[in-house]
Amino acid sequence: MISTENISKKYRSELVLKGVSTILPTGKIIAFIGSNGAGKSTLLNIISRLIPPSEGSVVIDGKKTSLWNTGDLAKTLTILGQSPQSETRITVKDLVSFGRFPHSNGETTPDDERAVAEALNITGIETLKDRYIDELSGGQRQMAYIAMSVAQDTKYILLDEPLNNLDMGRSVKIMKLMQKLVKEKSKTIFVVVHDINFVSFYADYVLALKDGILKYQGETESIMRPEILSDIYDIDITVENYRGKKICIYYK
Ligand SMILES: Nc1ncnc2c1ncn2[C@@H]1O[C@H](COP(=O)(O)OP(=O)(O)OP(=O)(O)O)[C@@H](O)[C@H]1O
Ligand SMILES: [Mg+2]
Repeated sequence: MISTENISKKYRSELVLKGVSTILPTGKIIAFIGSNGAGKSTLLNIISRLIPPSEGSVVIDGKKTSLWNTGDLAKTLTILGQSPQSETRITVKDLVSFGRFPHSNGETTPDDERAVAEALNITGIETLKDRYIDELSGGQRQMAYIAMSVAQDTKYILLDEPLNNLDMGRSVKIMKLMQKLVKEKSKTIFVVVHDINFVSFYADYVLALKDGILKYQGETESIMRPEILSDIYDIDITVENYRGKKICIYYK
């Protein structure tokens, strides 16, 4: 289980996260929502220890992140950042293999090879495996980074806007893949998504941030309300029922 205790983050004089305390459910898709600059990436990066909080702490499976050994943390939690970039010219297969590094420490075993092959397979990018990352389309590259996170095979998977650059079909495919990982492999997935209808259809639980404050949280159904969403996004949002799910309409 992951919990945060009174997390704040200050950049120069600006407080961008303000006392975020929460206990996150496990074995679910948990969507982080909020408008640009609300603090979603900052919170995810603090949870994964990429950046330190100015105040407060994160506890993962009973132990503060500050006390976790780096190797153990990398076997337990992975984060795919909002704009992943590779400095070196590598192939898709090599990139996905990087996801195995915490397990293999550079000495690849058949288990690692199986995990890489499976990640390429379930993301549907086997045909791209020998292509260079810098020669792919934006969406193809995004799929390769998602495959790398899947290959890492951690209990907690944090994905910051994984649907960036993906067409509708691939976005649905990735959300369904997340559902499969939760259901069949008992993963817990934290995911930042801007398209609220993807949240409504695929997320189990929602954390909604506004101006650095964790303003609402709960089962998805309880957050898909016009007054909550209009407050979070500062626009009028109408919510309709469609086949047992909520559809949000914000085109005016
Ligand atoms: N390294 C940094 N230095 C200074 N300010 C920062 C830094 N990183 C983020 N911020 C500020 O912190 C606030 C929260 O940023 P964050 O990236 O967490 O937002 P977000 O909710 O992920 O937004 P988006 O939807 O645009 O990705 C913003 O006002 C941003 O300008
Ligand atoms: Mg962000």
